[in-house]
Amino acid sequence: MAGASETATLLASVPFFTGLDEKKRNAIATQGKELSYKAGDAIVDEGTMGVGFYLVLDGKAEVRKGSKVLATLGKGQFFGEMSLIDEGPRSADVVAIAPTKCWALTSWAFSAIVKTNPDVALLMLKEMVKRLRAAQTTPGS
Ligand code: CMP
Repeated sequence: MAGASETATLLASVPFFTGLDEKKRNAIATQGKELSYKAGDAIVDEGTMGVGFYLVLDGKAEVRKGSKVLATLGKGQFFGEMSLIDEGPRSADVVAIAPTKCWALTSWAFSAIVKTNPDVALLMLKEMVKRLRAAQTTPGS
């Protein structure tokens, strides 16, 4: 498992956190933990209550609803925010499709970071709007 300084370096390469200064990034790095998954491992299960937010540090994960693949997420992309924002059940399964490393935050650390870093909140909103637009233009959805 990477130490906090290694995680801070990884976070610096992720667009999601590039707007933050080093001090803030270092502080944030200490709040999450790195988790590793094998190809085929379920990271998030649809319908369950969410307690984690995930940022992909390496590898690839598929967002699936039943047999439908909604998105493939790679380095620098996040998932698990929906359940933490509205405290509802997970909207989809997220499954590693390659060896995957994620940086995971608990719901309370996630809320604190979003509340105190408007740049992070805005980047998250922009990505969520992008996903909504993509879902609206997917034939048959
Ligand atoms: P959550 O509902 O907590 O858990 C499943 C996650 O999959 C969800 O948060 C989002 O992060 C992600 N997700 C759901 N629908 C889509 C989509 N259409 N495109 C990309 N990611 C999605």
